Amino acid sequence: MSTAPQETGFDHSLAFLSDPYRYISSRCRELGSDLFETRILLQPAICMSGPEAAAVFYDPERFQRAGAAPEPLQATLFGKGGVQGLDGAAHRERKALFMKVVEPERVAALAGFVASEWWSAARRWQDEDRVILYQEVVQLLTRAVCTWAYVPLAEDEVDKRSRQMARLFDEAANSGAGHLRSRYARRRLEKWLARLVGDIRDGRYAVPRGCAAEAVANHVDADAQLLPVEIAAVELLNVLRPTVAVAVFIVFAAHALHAHPECRERLGGDDPDYEDAFVQEVRRCYPFFPAVAARVRVDFDWAGVHFPEGRLVLLDLYGSNRDPRVWEAPDEFRPERFLDRTPGAFDFMPQGGAEPYGNHRCPGEGIAVTLMKQAVGFLVRHLGYQVPMQDLRLDLSRLPALPCDGFILSDVRVLEPQGRGRTQAQHRPEARL
Ligand code: HEM
Repeated sequence: MSTAPQETGFDHSLAFLSDPYRYISSRCRELGSDLFETRILLQPAICMSGPEAAAVFYDPERFQRAGAAPEPLQATLFGKGGVQGLDGAAHRERKALFMKVVEPERVAALAGFVASEWWSAARRWQDEDRVILYQEVVQLLTRAVCTWAYVPLAEDEVDKRSRQMARLFDEAANSGAGHLRSRYARRRLEKWLARLVGDIRDGRYAVPRGCAAEAVANHVDADAQLLPVEIAAVELLNVLRPTVAVAVFIVFAAHALHAHPECRERLGGDDPDYEDAFVQEVRRCYPFFPAVAARVRVDFDWAGVHFPEGRLVLLDLYGSNRDPRVWEAPDEFRPERFLDRTPGAFDFMPQGGAEPYGNHRCPGEGIAVTLMKQAVGFLVRHLGYQVPMQDLRLDLSRLPALPCDGFILSDVRVLEPQGRGRTQAQHRPEARL
């Protein structure tokens, strides 16, 4: 017999979509519980928040991912047949592919390509009145990740492909036209990458061993077969798309630098521990992934609540990262909190919880953190800019909740290396934060 508080009403999908980051934690607070029963996507669901709930959610004996992601997300953000929907041995085998692609020396090589893109983009920005940082970083990451992965991208294709990439994570949750654009973008990108996988396998396009395109094209799955070409395209896109999505975190980092000039000043001092702490605090505080979904694998009871086989369960990531039982003053931006604390596997989950090898935690945290630190270093030490009047609010009804104007920079100038530590944005106009 379930004792979980229940949300009354026919369906709460609209409530979730209109406040995706706070829906679960605010209901949990109102109901005085770490979990509650509701109806989402026209089906019964259990929503959970906090570290204890996360430890249960990431138990593969109790939960599976097959059948959990709603079709509209599979057709846009994730793709169909990819690692996100696998379980057990099939998942471990496929996940090994990603863990290989993101080994530290591969991440360092990616960072090298991204660095040279920052320099050439910044030199170009000096000749422009203003630039929208989000759009620019999406483009520079698209160029860099394609070069790194050995995915050929002609100069005249950069604009089209970077827009398509962004649509996968930026418009997936839109209603109407935006969602349709996201579906269309996935079809185009998968077709492009499926052709590339075919060319690699047929020897028409030579790639070095170990690069992402080669690793995916030649990956042998649990059934000792190469991946079907369409699935290989989904998995290659599972490397490219989220790497481009680091643009969202980079814009959040730029927003935090602007909102917290005292942090910016300290970052100019070249302290790697503080730089790491700053980036972790951006990942904890800023709204990117709201929640993850799974289905109950076998009936079980937890916290006095019955979880029936097949039930949809949502785990709150954003709210868990701000759980006041774990984080002191959770709504304050305080990088220092990471200086003397190594977060646990279930209390800091910007990219999922548990561990990445045997579970569904994101394999790309090394990429995200490395590229964020690099961006922060570049913005603080090598770029002078102003942040002109604009709408800097984060729209929490949007997924992801980017600053409304995409974070505009003006009066950009590139600072020579001897300018280290002297690159404060010159002026902070009144702006709505
Ligand atoms: C942009 C910043 C990123 C964010 C916010 C993010 C977030 C996430 C989240 C929340 C999950 C789901 C965890 C779960 O289901 O429990 C995930 C899974 C995944 N991410 Fe990331 N990620 C990011 C970057 C990356 C990068 C750079 C890669 C490149 C390799 C990547 C590849 C993946 C893959 C392949 C999965 C599926 C893992 C699995 O199902 O086992 N992500 N990510």
